[in-house]
Amino acid sequence: MTIQHPSRRDVLTAGAAVAGAVAIPFMASAQSPVVIKFSHVVAENTPKGKGSLKFKELAEERAKGRVKVEVYPNSSLFKDGEEMEALQLGSVQMLAPSLAKFGPLGVREFEVFDLPYIFDNAAELHKVTEGPVGAQLFKKLEGKGVVGLAYWDNGFKVMSANKSIKVPADYKGLKMRIQSSKVLGDQMKALGAIPQVMAFSEVYQALQTGVVDGTENTPSNFYTQKMHEVQKFLALTNHGYIGYAVITNKKFWDGLPADLRTTLQGAMKDATKYANDIAQKENDEALEAVRKSGKTQILTPTAQEKADMKKALAVVHKENESRVGKDILAEVYKATGYKS
Ligand code: LMR
Repeated sequence: MTIQHPSRRDVLTAGAAVAGAVAIPFMASAQSPVVIKFSHVVAENTPKGKGSLKFKELAEERAKGRVKVEVYPNSSLFKDGEEMEALQLGSVQMLAPSLAKFGPLGVREFEVFDLPYIFDNAAELHKVTEGPVGAQLFKKLEGKGVVGLAYWDNGFKVMSANKSIKVPADYKGLKMRIQSSKVLGDQMKALGAIPQVMAFSEVYQALQTGVVDGTENTPSNFYTQKMHEVQKFLALTNHGYIGYAVITNKKFWDGLPADLRTTLQGAMKDATKYANDIAQKENDEALEAVRKSGKTQILTPTAQEKADMKKALAVVHKENESRVGKDILAEVYKATGYKS
């Protein structure tokens, strides 16, 4: 699909110049549909890529010409480090950043989702996103001019490098790319690795040129960014989770006609179900495609190796208790039954 769009800088500048304009209620009419720019950083054939296109389809169909959703995948409009500011300025109306990327916005509590081994499976994770903690975190966003619309799944992370990486000792001295989360930084340090925060759009090249030695991600992100071409080993550690919060600009959202907002909420609800239903399958298929490529050896840690990793990483929970909030952490433990 070819998408025409202004350069990132033009959009940022225009957004800054008319920042106040987002407060003006939108005039939704057949002549001038409300335009929702939905920007994200991953490929279209991923859970988030497909979820955002499903939202576009449902929203446009149900709003009957009153809304146009423009989806910009692959960091083509904004990349990590730019998109949150762009949303606050009103240069983009929707994003779905990973839950690991809310620290820079000033809502560090989202990093509770990054704690190693805190979720054993998606059901435990959903207890949190669909329960009081999920709602509490969305409430915290409002102070930043942001509204949380939904939580979307991706899946559990694998580790990759150009050497075998099954137990903590294997990670010593490796430069590992992470998302912008202190919890993830502490996780890599607890393994003796050197964490390096980097925008998602830059990871492939950094792995290819040796700027970093390895990374962690879900199989769907790993495969669609072609990381299997530049990483010899992938370990099925499932040590952590990547999911998203779909967010919008509060002034934009509150300025919509109420009936249109209700229509969009319905479209989001159904797109969320779709995205969450396909997430596991997308990751399973991506892993199979990596296996078939023959370029990356897939390692399955034994129960003992997994226990060694979990033990080495337990300290990360203690280190970040105050960062993610003692009460929030206690609630998450209660929902998931986590024990170190
Ligand atoms: C990453 O930056 O590694 C991922 O969070 C990208 C994404 O949005 O899944």
